[in-house]
Amino acid sequence: MKDKGKAFINTIGCQMNVYDSEKLAGILTAYGYEKTRNMDEADLILCNTCSIRHKAEEKAFSFLGRFAREKKKRPHLITIMAGCVAQQEGEKAFDRVPHLDIVLGTQAFARLGSHLDELASGKRRIVDTAESDVIFEAMPDESAFDETQVSKFVTIMQGCENFCTYCVVPYVRGREKSRGHESIVKETRALADSGIREITLLGQNVNSYGVKDGDISFPELLEKVSQVEGIRRIRFATSHPKDLSDGLIKAMGRLDKVCNHLHLPVQSGSNAVLKKMNRGYTRETYLSRISALKEACPDMALSTDIIVGFPSETEADFQDTVDMLREVEFDSIFAFAYSDRSSAPAAKFPDQIEEAVKMERLNTLLTIQEIYTEKKNAALVGRDVQVLVEGESQKKRDGFVTENKNMKQMFGRSESNKIVHFPSDQAVIGDLVTIRIENAYPHSLWGRPSGS
Ligand code: 5AD
Ligand code: SF4
Repeated sequence: MKDKGKAFINTIGCQMNVYDSEKLAGILTAYGYEKTRNMDEADLILCNTCSIRHKAEEKAFSFLGRFAREKKKRPHLITIMAGCVAQQEGEKAFDRVPHLDIVLGTQAFARLGSHLDELASGKRRIVDTAESDVIFEAMPDESAFDETQVSKFVTIMQGCENFCTYCVVPYVRGREKSRGHESIVKETRALADSGIREITLLGQNVNSYGVKDGDISFPELLEKVSQVEGIRRIRFATSHPKDLSDGLIKAMGRLDKVCNHLHLPVQSGSNAVLKKMNRGYTRETYLSRISALKEACPDMALSTDIIVGFPSETEADFQDTVDMLREVEFDSIFAFAYSDRSSAPAAKFPDQIEEAVKMERLNTLLTIQEIYTEKKNAALVGRDVQVLVEGESQKKRDGFVTENKNMKQMFGRSESNKIVHFPSDQAVIGDLVTIRIENAYPHSLWGRPSGS
């Protein structure tokens, strides 16, 4: 393939976008581009965008706003807006970003090469927001790997049909589609062969994998992926509480490689708000699923997503959410102020909450959660945790001195996804080591190899 110059990719948003960007990088490499981390030398700039909240969308537009300046410097520069904002805006994208060459929607990635051909033959302002029945499946491009990476994402499904009333995803990512399990296993095997030790199965709603159009169920998929040699750990995100089946709970307890960590977004602790959000469960059913999970896997770490300031959320509703944190004691939370998305139904709901109130509730929630995050970390002191080594710590612990010049401060993640630092003269990237925790900090743990 002819040398087309250098391509720069900027990724905004979730893990799914990180995964998609890697696939887009693979297409560009196959097309003749070489990847660069320096935008100034790029011949092609692609921004993979996110529209989940207003802030993410603004971040995309502010980056894209630089295209005019870049094009002035290098008139041959090709500019591409990809992903969720591209899907949402279509033709309208040119109003805000006139110097754009291609608007590439979320289901158009496989057609990037043919759009570049069209551009080369003189076509301008290409928009592709067409739906596609097939999931774009490209095998991993090892040339895009950083040799220190131990963990990668694998998309197992696309789209979402839950239509939570605040959420833009069903409108920008389309209907739910599950990928065939053989291709997922093949991709996982390819990753394992190139040295990857941990995979995270991705989807908006992974635990409904296969329900609509898959060939096997999600617990069966976990089983198949577990059999891939070389893969030592399996994570998955995101799960919907209404689809947390007994079968999945059993599989999590049974399969050693599946990490003892579940990210289970609750969004609100108030039944009135959950109903308006169209979440399909109540506070009580959420709590009973958590009890079943803890019974089967007592060491299970839990994290969640919460939205504060959903339209009409009262102080009492918010207190229900606060109570939920106290009751469940999550290891960590991701909390967001409700952000109006014009394509989602909640934008038209009455009683929108003032920004200042949203911010106050957000801060209250984050402050309360700190207690539980610290408590969960402190409970690990004196215990052995299994750590997948990711590399040498950037920041050395105060007082980290050693006579042994081979001794390094390494870091990795526990099964529960907590960062663990430890001294070692042996551990290498990709190893699974057992570390006895000696100190707990708000955002990390410190320990030593067990038995040392
Ligand atoms: N406003 C605020 N947060 C949102 N999320 C999704 N849509 C919105 C919105 N309109 C949050 C949810 C979801 C996470 C990925 O983003 O908590 O689980
Ligand atoms: Fe959005 Fe709800 Fe689907 Fe999650 S489950 S992507 S919050 S619509």
